[in-house]
Amino acid sequence: MKLYLKIWRQKDAKTKGKMVDYTMEGVEGDMSFLEMLDVLNEDLILKGEEPIEFDHDCREGICGTCSLQINGRPHGPDTRITVCQLHMRRFKDGDTIVIEPFRAKAFPVIKDLIIDRSAFERIQQAGGYVSVNTSGNTVDANAIPIEKDKADMSFNAATCIGCGACVAACKNASAMLFTSAKVSQFALLPQGRVEAADRVQSMVRQMDLEGFGNCTNTGACEVECPKGISLENIARMNREYLSATAKG
Ligand code: SF4
Ligand code: FES
Repeated sequence: MKLYLKIWRQKDAKTKGKMVDYTMEGVEGDMSFLEMLDVLNEDLILKGEEPIEFDHDCREGICGTCSLQINGRPHGPDTRITVCQLHMRRFKDGDTIVIEPFRAKAFPVIKDLIIDRSAFERIQQAGGYVSVNTSGNTVDANAIPIEKDKADMSFNAATCIGCGACVAACKNASAMLFTSAKVSQFALLPQGRVEAADRVQSMVRQMDLEGFGNCTNTGACEVECPKGISLENIARMNREYLSATAKG
């Protein structure tokens, strides 16, 4: 395939970026999207040009770092997959592909296609954990019976990989889907109930401090989430928050 790529290039956080055109020939359908970028970068290095910086780690849909906006959609044209799971057979000869970083005030560009998602880490650090007494009297978690449907819902919430596609898809750049997944995975389990009121208030406070927008229930986040995190988590977080603030 011959492809026409328009890729966001930006030297650093302070320099203005711009779209740059690249033409690639000989792209095979079996290449992954990131392998296609690897080949482009090898060509650029051979020509003495700066390679395009992009984030990636696991390349199997687990780490959530390969966050790219492809033709206007977070993680590209397929649903329920990350960019590293996208293959070039999804495109056809002669296509133009626009590749940008995720756009949100709370996700500043570091370089080219790499964004700073440490705002998500600070939300997680604000309450996304269970405090465990390690005095030697720790109770085996398996000693507490948990209904299967609750365990399944908690597990589903825990599959959020923190990629940020929900923020990139939202017209308000809201982080409600991410935060609500992290709140829900604990709120649904008895072990998570002990600190539930403090947790939801701290995480929502941090989410607002980071500059994410408000949720207006458009549902774009759920559509673009590669892990199928449900909007039900946002409803649960709102209930948790209301009940926590009513108690004071
Ligand atoms: S909720 Fe989905 S889109 Fe948002 S960070 Fe988690 S996995 Fe990514
Ligand atoms: S590189 Fe880890 S999810 Fe894509």
